[in-house]
Amino acid sequence: MSRSASMQSAFPPADDSARRSAPLVEAKALCKRYPAGERGELVVLRDLSFHVMPGEVVAIVGESGTGKSTLLHLLGGLDRPTSGRVLFEGADVFEKDDEALAAFRNRSIGFVFQFHHLLPEFTAVENVAMPALIQHRRMEEVRPRAVELLRTLGLGDRLDHRPGALSGGEQQRVAVARALMNRPRLVLADEPTGNLDTRTADALHRELLRLSRAFGQTFVIATHNLALAEMADRVLHLRQGRLHPAEEAAPPVVPPNPDPAGDVGEGD
Ligand SMILES: Nc1ncnc2c1ncn2[C@@H]1O[C@H](COP(=O)(O)OP(=O)(O)O)[C@@H](O)[C@H]1O
Ligand SMILES: [Mg+2]
Repeated sequence: MSRSASMQSAFPPADDSARRSAPLVEAKALCKRYPAGERGELVVLRDLSFHVMPGEVVAIVGESGTGKSTLLHLLGGLDRPTSGRVLFEGADVFEKDDEALAAFRNRSIGFVFQFHHLLPEFTAVENVAMPALIQHRRMEEVRPRAVELLRTLGLGDRLDHRPGALSGGEQQRVAVARALMNRPRLVLADEPTGNLDTRTADALHRELLRLSRAFGQTFVIATHNLALAEMADRVLHLRQGRLHPAEEAAPPVVPPNPDPAGDVGEGD
């Protein structure tokens, strides 16, 4: 099977240290507040603690505005918390200065955003290689891995397409390949399929899970798509600034009825 053979070369077997029983990433009493003018403060995350084990796929679900992006940004060192800590392999991410933090992100974290943020003037293979080029590695050295990743994601015949010549699903696959380029320990995906039609979104989610299962890649995926979230190892709901296990309270399928009588019959 050429596909799995190509996957093998793109993802050499993880070394044993990748499979330790200690958490890969741990949030400890994270708080994030924003100033909100006369109304005081907007508390987005309050005293939030959780951890992710190596190889786990954790889905974070929650309505729009509950703080999913904020949380992923903190986990990936893109933003600093108001208080609390993020430990990555036991080390405090925010003890690093900005330069060390940027190097940490480049080396250890892969980001997939809702909007792919590909560079329009570069080809697919150049976009995928970018995280390695930022490390001052040479294109001829890193190109084979970028090509392998694109082949693994089914884009072997789109290597030299610019983002504008790719479909939404293809662009997002390029973004996934880019996130994996530097063999990050953790991939953070922020509603990665939010802008795709259902079928394409479903295919991309399955692809992420396949990568995770085949290579022990750790993912934290924010999504508001419950059906897709349920493919993860663990589903956590972000509500009122904290994470709750899925079984604690499934969110309502329809918005809560504002009518205090709560009649679900034929109200407006
Ligand atoms: N830089 C910021 N300044 C002020 N408020 C912000 C900022 N970033 C996000 N927020 C607010 O924080 C809340 C959580 O945002 P976000 O993390 O983007 O939610 P989600 O990703 O779940 O939709 C929202 O109410 C948003 O308006
Ligand atoms: Mg968001």
